[in-house]
Amino acid sequence: MRIDIITLFPRMFDGPFRESIIARAIAAGIVEIHIHDLRGWATDRHRTVDDAPFGGGAGMVLKPEPLFAAIEQLRGENGHVILMTPQGQVFNQQLAADLATYNHLLFVCGHYEGVDERVREHAIDRELSIGDYVLSGGELPAMVVVDAVTRLLPGTLGSHLSTVEESHAGGLLEYPHYTRPRDFRGWRVPDILLSGNHAAIARWRHEQAVRRTLERRPDLTRKYLPHLLQEHKDGDEDAGATTTSGL
Ligand code: ADE
Repeated sequence: MRIDIITLFPRMFDGPFRESIIARAIAAGIVEIHIHDLRGWATDRHRTVDDAPFGGGAGMVLKPEPLFAAIEQLRGENGHVILMTPQGQVFNQQLAADLATYNHLLFVCGHYEGVDERVREHAIDRELSIGDYVLSGGELPAMVVVDAVTRLLPGTLGSHLSTVEESHAGGLLEYPHYTRPRDFRGWRVPDILLSGNHAAIARWRHEQAVRRTLERRPDLTRKYLPHLLQEHKDGDEDAGATTTSGL
């Protein structure tokens, strides 16, 4: 996959893309990432990329000319152009999986009050937000999306299973993990994990994942696993009935 990023702050990407999984994916030739300074497409001596909003108001707006020039030069044959903005669709694991199917992604990092509306209307394929809070620019959000997408590319993670099993992939949060020592300060690893019974371990992990999702993220449960809510309720009612009859 090829990824291009248009930004006013190219150096922000130095650290995150030089470490860990993204760095390994780049080294392995799985992903190619190019960071571009929007000012490179400015046409005046001062390399201006923003201007005051028509109609007045606070802040500055990114001008259309440098953004159009940059996008038109970089998008190529099949570049998918993504604007990072708090007004976009809220990013999630499903969208990460969708983006991982493209050959070429081009991220535009908004700044200041945003970009001229004509850029959004005529040069952008989709707008993404990473959550309902406002950051000072689209750089950190673009890094988040690039990370989530890159780790899904075939060959990036050692085991394909790790992306299939992990939190959110199947709409469930992950089950708890333990490693050595078996007993740490008196807190023991659950016996089942030491039993060697793989079927029983798989069952226990699934139960834990379901319980965690029900407890912590009823919104995920409603969205991906509505049948679990009903089962959980039935379970509670059964438990209630037993308790009542036992009294
Ligand atoms: N730019 C500023 N805040 C943002 C957010 N939450 N998501 C995407 N881009 C942004």
